Amino acid sequence: MSLEKYSNLVNEENYCEIKLTKYLGHSLPEIQSLNDVIRELNKIFESDNVNIELVRYVLTSYKSNPIEWKKYAKFDRLRYTRNLVDNGNGKYNLMLLCWGEGQAAGIHDHANSHCFMKILQGSLEEVRYSWPKDEESELEEISKTRMDLNDVIYINDSLGLHRVQNVSSYDTCISLHLYCPPYEKCSVFNQKTGKRIPCQVTFYSTFGKRIKENKENRQ
Ligand SMILES: [Fe+2]
Repeated sequence: MSLEKYSNLVNEENYCEIKLTKYLGHSLPEIQSLNDVIRELNKIFESDNVNIELVRYVLTSYKSNPIEWKKYAKFDRLRYTRNLVDNGNGKYNLMLLCWGEGQAAGIHDHANSHCFMKILQGSLEEVRYSWPKDEESELEEISKTRMDLNDVIYINDSLGLHRVQNVSSYDTCISLHLYCPPYEKCSVFNQKTGKRIPCQVTFYSTFGKRIKENKENRQ
């Protein structure tokens, strides 16, 4: 599967809509619910050549409605959780990440996958780093972004590594993530040394049901 190169030209929604309509040759999908998001993503990924801007458009168009996603939202007091919503017919994973106050994901890569991330509740801080030059030098910070309700960001390995944190000490956060293709292993990095450690990613729940815990080296 290949995805077209992501463009930064999608920041302004109207521009995005015109561009995509032109590109696709037909009107854009109407997104009024999480079910619409799931249905449209399934349609989009039927093709082996997916327009990243269209995926971003679908995610951005959805206005978070807790009634629609609360059955997937499961928190753990010790760490953030990954909760599978849809397995995208094996082509991608759509999931809710639930972040307790102050919880964070360490600096990680995305195993050659594409990653979209949207805020459904609360806010997150994303810090991007360049790839380590060697295993002895500190990772260089590229950017720091605060993500608020309904914001969407995109990252893949060519854009660097990132660390994500719910910096609030009194609010939880919930985010919707799409990973294409799905992956079970990635790497985490030591900020000070650049040292890379392989890491397994696991689900806390799938389709709204809690699954047995795997205590391996998780991200
Ligand atoms: Fe990530």
